[in-house]
Amino acid sequence: MEKLIITGNKCLKGEVVISGAKNAAVALIPATLLLNGTCTIFNLPNISDIKIYIEILESLGVKVTWNNKNSVKLDTRHIASTNSTIELTKKFRASYYLIGSLLGRLGSVEVGLPGGCQLGPRPIDQHIKGFEALGAKVVIEDEVITAKTDGLVGTNIFLDIVSVGATINIMLASVLAKGVTIIENVAKEPHVVDVANLLNVMGANIVGAGTDVIKITGVPKLKGNYIYSVVPDQIEAGTFMLAAVATRGDITVKNCTPEHLDALSAKITEIGAEVQPINGDTLRVIAKHRPKRTNVKTLPYPGFPTDLQSQMGVVLALANGTSKITENIWESRFQYTHALNRMGANIVDHGKFATFRGVEKLHGAAVYSTDLRAGAALLIAGISASDVTELYNLQHIDRGYEDIEGKFIKLGAEMERVEADEKEIELSL
Ligand code: EPU
Repeated sequence: MEKLIITGNKCLKGEVVISGAKNAAVALIPATLLLNGTCTIFNLPNISDIKIYIEILESLGVKVTWNNKNSVKLDTRHIASTNSTIELTKKFRASYYLIGSLLGRLGSVEVGLPGGCQLGPRPIDQHIKGFEALGAKVVIEDEVITAKTDGLVGTNIFLDIVSVGATINIMLASVLAKGVTIIENVAKEPHVVDVANLLNVMGANIVGAGTDVIKITGVPKLKGNYIYSVVPDQIEAGTFMLAAVATRGDITVKNCTPEHLDALSAKITEIGAEVQPINGDTLRVIAKHRPKRTNVKTLPYPGFPTDLQSQMGVVLALANGTSKITENIWESRFQYTHALNRMGANIVDHGKFATFRGVEKLHGAAVYSTDLRAGAALLIAGISASDVTELYNLQHIDRGYEDIEGKFIKLGAEMERVEADEKEIELSL
């Protein structure tokens, strides 16, 4: 196991280029299984979740050709199996998209119950409700999900809760179903739109992605030989924007989609930093002063994203005054606050919300990331803190950020990845 040794007290300045969105890419890759042909995907983030996903597709019989570390050609003409490697699918959350894709294409699928970050209970009842409404039989036994159908038939589905995963998964299952499927109360995240765009490029008939209702008119098959570029990662972009504020720096975030970041840009402006749009795909964040206090509530898109809550928490830990963050999506997303308190923050975690009494400065400490975004938050905290921070459990960050150290170092951060010794590893478990 490795750790990052971060030498703090740095003010970040310069340019960073944003990679393709992890949460879009992990849906686009399985979406290609609906196609009987080839598809080349560009702007894929080079992260461990993507490498595992491609490995899973290979195990199903997909021919994989890497053009470079960010682009892959997938030939889905000869799928040999619908039973994915159970141990691999258990490793991360988005393996659940194999269910929608393989049910839709081949009428049967077997995957391990999805793993991923521990953010509290992560049910998939809405996914299953959708598959069953379309005519599938779904059984969960010994942490394995099996779904089968003699043919999916379009229907009306009203989601009880706004869910990114359920929206995309039911959309995947409906593309080749007979007739019309209407999904109401859907998620509107940019990655939902990105998946609909890819499917439409391949010949699907999906309208309404990005609104509350998606209508899918089933088509008999999708056609091949497509090239598609993944939407920029708004969470990675937001992570660097908040790093600029936390370190009172000046960062130009290139290759992002500014409108996907409206909720964050509004909050950053509210707390006294400047967000300048440049050329349609670039945002410059300039933070000259200590941030002002504010309150934040996480919500489905276009609200403030839960995936930027921890990074915002670092900023509010350093703000002038007392702030409150309310987490409305996940039950256990304040675990990072305990690590921040070890670095001198004054945060009280009340479960559903946390109170941040801002301090002038954080100091270095040994801290352990508990999930992907907590890891990014602690990295930012370490860069802004006085003296040295040791950050453990880097596997969480590696799941979702491409070359995060390289990008931060280019902006003026100082950090080194080294092997952790046995005793440190024991502490981090
Ligand atoms: N929910 C249900 N039943 C379901 C599905 C979801 O009750 O069947 C609940 C969840 O428990 C949660 C809420 O609905 O309270 C929203 O969950 P959603 O389904 O939207 O989350 P997800 O699809 O599992 C994706 C991202 C998460 C991100 C959330 C919310 C992927 C692979 N993951 O998860 O990303 O936090 O949407 O935007 O797309 C991350 O990147 O760090 C991350 C955790």
